[in-house]
Amino acid sequence: MRIDISSLTPVQKQAWLQHAIAPRPICFASTIDKDGSVNLSPFSFFNMFSSNPPVVIFSPSRRVRDNTTKHTLQNVLEVAEVVINICDYDMVQQVSLASCEYPKGTDEFTKAGFTKEAASVVKPPMVKEAKVKFECKVKEVKSLGEEGGAGQLVIAEVLVMHVDDSILNAEGTMIDQTKLHHIARLGGDWYCKVDASNLFIVEKPNVKLGIGVDALPASIRSSKILTGNNLGQLANVHEMPLVEPSFEDEKLKNIFQYYSVSPAEMEKEIHLYAKQLLDKGNVTAAWQVLLAADNV
Ligand SMILES: Cc1cc2nc3c(=O)[nH]c(=O)nc-3n(C[C@H](O)[C@H](O)[C@H](O)COP(=O)(O)O)c2cc1C
Repeated sequence: MRIDISSLTPVQKQAWLQHAIAPRPICFASTIDKDGSVNLSPFSFFNMFSSNPPVVIFSPSRRVRDNTTKHTLQNVLEVAEVVINICDYDMVQQVSLASCEYPKGTDEFTKAGFTKEAASVVKPPMVKEAKVKFECKVKEVKSLGEEGGAGQLVIAEVLVMHVDDSILNAEGTMIDQTKLHHIARLGGDWYCKVDASNLFIVEKPNVKLGIGVDALPASIRSSKILTGNNLGQLANVHEMPLVEPSFEDEKLKNIFQYYSVSPAEMEKEIHLYAKQLLDKGNVTAAWQVLLAADNV
């Protein structure tokens, strides 16, 4: 399916992009107008774009429905400060409630049942229940257009960060990624939740250069068994591994014995075994299995 974006209605554009560009973290923005009225609303057009200076951007878009602007945008244009609260699973239903289009002047802290906590250097209050909050100064508001759906980028510099002790690691030196159950927005009404069961680690490749998929032996590169992820793991070694004479493996011996009359079947079994090892993260053993097969 090929989609020419310009042929879509604004509602369709939004839906296709939001389903595909996901999951998006959720900024729960607390702002205040010049008369001191507080507003609290969630925005998933949000991310960090610089760590030094520490800059985050979120986008209260012009409404697709009637091309009006959001109270959050109006507020930051009046008082250039925002507290960005990070949303976790314990808050998701109240966060969604706070997104209702209440009339200007309605305090969504009260409507959604959150507790105000004074910030230390900016005027808008923080959400006490949020486990991470950023006190920010709005540096610039950049409009991306005048039509319904046009993003209005709120570019904000983080001044102070608050982190709840309950989500720190045992040493108290960093956030424990398994303890902060982030939620994120996808397309339509879909959300996802981060927890220990769906987190995984991918080793950082950028300390030394990986040899690259193009440097893998042709028999591995063209394997019908090994996946793109498996090739990525194998090609992340810094130099082509050598056969390790001390490497012994019962299962490999059995494969050699059993399939000695059929080289094609043997290669298939060896790739299946290497894939098993790679899926468990054992790249060194997988390489030895593949190299041993090449040496038969
Ligand atoms: C999880 C979530 C994410 C949202 N993300 C955005 C967004 O990125 N941009 C936007 O304009 N509206 C977004 N909305 C809708 C706004 O929260 C909603 O329009 C809100 O009422 C705006 O409030 P305000 O007019 O008080 O600022 C989102 C709603 C939810 C529930």
